[in-house]
Amino acid sequence: MCGIVGYYGPKDPKSVILEGLQTLEYRGYDSAGVAILNGSEYKRIRAEGKLAALADKLADETFDGAIGIGHTRWATHGPPSERNAHPHCIEGVNIVHNGIIENYAELREELMSEGATFSSDTDSELVAHLINKSMKSTGNLMEAVMKMMKRLEGAYSILAVSADAPEEMVAFKNGPPLILGVGEKELVVASDIQAIMPHTNKVIFLEDDEVVYIRKDRYELFNRSGGLIKKEVEVIDWSPEQVEKQGFKHYMLKEIFEQPRAVAQAIDPHINLETKSVALTRVGFGGARVEELPKIDVQEDLQLTNETLEGIERIFIVACGTSYYAGQVGEYLIEQIARVPVECDIGSEFRYRYPVIPENSLVITISQSGETADTLAALRLVKQQGAKVLSICNVRRSSIDREADGHLYMNAGAEIGVASTKAFVSTLSLLQIFAIQLAKVKGVLNQDTEKPFVEALVSLPSQMEKVLVHDKFFEEAASSLKTYRGFLYMGRGVSFPIAMEGALKLKELAYMHAEGYAAGEMKHGPLALIDESMAVVMLVANDELYDKTVSNLEEAKARGGQIISIGSGENQKLQNLSLHYLSIPEAHWTVNPVLQVLPLQLLAYHVASSLGHDVDQPRNLAKSVTVE
Ligand code: M6R
Repeated sequence: MCGIVGYYGPKDPKSVILEGLQTLEYRGYDSAGVAILNGSEYKRIRAEGKLAALADKLADETFDGAIGIGHTRWATHGPPSERNAHPHCIEGVNIVHNGIIENYAELREELMSEGATFSSDTDSELVAHLINKSMKSTGNLMEAVMKMMKRLEGAYSILAVSADAPEEMVAFKNGPPLILGVGEKELVVASDIQAIMPHTNKVIFLEDDEVVYIRKDRYELFNRSGGLIKKEVEVIDWSPEQVEKQGFKHYMLKEIFEQPRAVAQAIDPHINLETKSVALTRVGFGGARVEELPKIDVQEDLQLTNETLEGIERIFIVACGTSYYAGQVGEYLIEQIARVPVECDIGSEFRYRYPVIPENSLVITISQSGETADTLAALRLVKQQGAKVLSICNVRRSSIDREADGHLYMNAGAEIGVASTKAFVSTLSLLQIFAIQLAKVKGVLNQDTEKPFVEALVSLPSQMEKVLVHDKFFEEAASSLKTYRGFLYMGRGVSFPIAMEGALKLKELAYMHAEGYAAGEMKHGPLALIDESMAVVMLVANDELYDKTVSNLEEAKARGGQIISIGSGENQKLQNLSLHYLSIPEAHWTVNPVLQVLPLQLLAYHVASSLGHDVDQPRNLAKSVTVE
């Protein structure tokens, strides 16, 4: 999704804005631009394509002003091109916009009937027109933005500057995230904290309908009706190395290898290593790993008490994409461990299907970014109906985190690659902790019977390390794997959502057709797809469904399918049946999905990388999907 950066301060705005936009690249974009004060005018430079193209154009440009705005555009209305790139400028008013203006057609028509002309296909340009129109009568940028806001429908976060009000900037949030960084005589406004971190760790998270009015190095905050508001400046404790590649070719590869640590960080606050028990509070910091972990602020831990948990009769999990597949694993885990019914839904379906949320239900939202529009909308919907929401989230103080009643933090550190990896495994670990705790308060588990579950979790990071050493396996297999017509990923039980997650990874990174299926469904249709050109990735867990899964594998093999199987141990049978067989460590059924997903991530990564794709920023995709 689009990225926004605005700067006022003593540093060179060109460098600050460009570097800020670079940190937002992971969000996905296809053009970029800046408008920076130079003399009494804003000089606007835009370019189609990657930031390098913009940097080339800016190389010889100098600016003498202290203020500017920049944007990376992820095309919605109109194709990626320089003319559609932001900032949009009308008579000295420059704006950048993230979101979608739903009533743009009618506003555009109205403006055109008044003689306005448009030089882009975007829904954003009209914002510059509307502000410019008011500026002409009032000469006041803040007033003009406030007036313009009242006309817009949809989701929109906007930054505006004007040559007629030099050294002023107005930022407005309604939907997509906006954060204000408050430095020493400098102010940074950005879509994400990463663009602010190099300058200051003091920030204000804007809520919807909040406006920041910047005049030189001063700022004031207002609500939508123009009332002055006060908000606390928060101090962020994030280490800069979390957002560097550290020698890896891609962020995604670095993040794949960070996963054992991500799991350790997710479970650590909730596990007592001595008693081998879980608690959804801050316990168990006695482990040796703790010294290695970055400082985590856990002031706001889970606020759901055991009494509340005891009363829960039904659970809904709502999420999108990879987080949704994590939720599906959660459905198996919670139902089997705690025996509480669970329904897992895709955010965009849930919010429009008029869901029935019975009393005593708990809704769990899962979101790495905490900004996914459909998941956020689902959260708001169920809260209106009186349900309690527990958020499993990576980005603290994100919209979903702020609006939920209870919080479980992934603690995975910054996830930059568009393809989600470490957030997924952290979530699976937290869902287990939650299921175990729920089972205890419901009397399904006790302090003795919970131990095997806890032990499995504690040894999970080291087992994950053992899987990651097989990185070369898929690197070598990638050149033959990339020649297949398609991939069918299959598993049974809790391996089924992992099959779907594996297929999603291959789709989004390698742009190859891949489908995840319940292996038991094969005869109901997908078997027809299988021939010599089809790769079949079979997840063979050593569980009660083992024999049935192997039969499915044999059926696929008999039709010519090229079998890649993931099993455990020296399984001769699987080796004989498969073109490629990868053995993962024998593990408790609850943690096995975490081990299974690692080879699938590596497979997708290496196939995509050998095809020469931009693994960190796959085409057409954005890291944080802030519009529906
Ligand atoms: O930030 P979220 O976890 O809410 O994001 C949800 C999906 O957009 C995300 O998982 C997406 O599917 C990833 N690109 C998958 O790798």
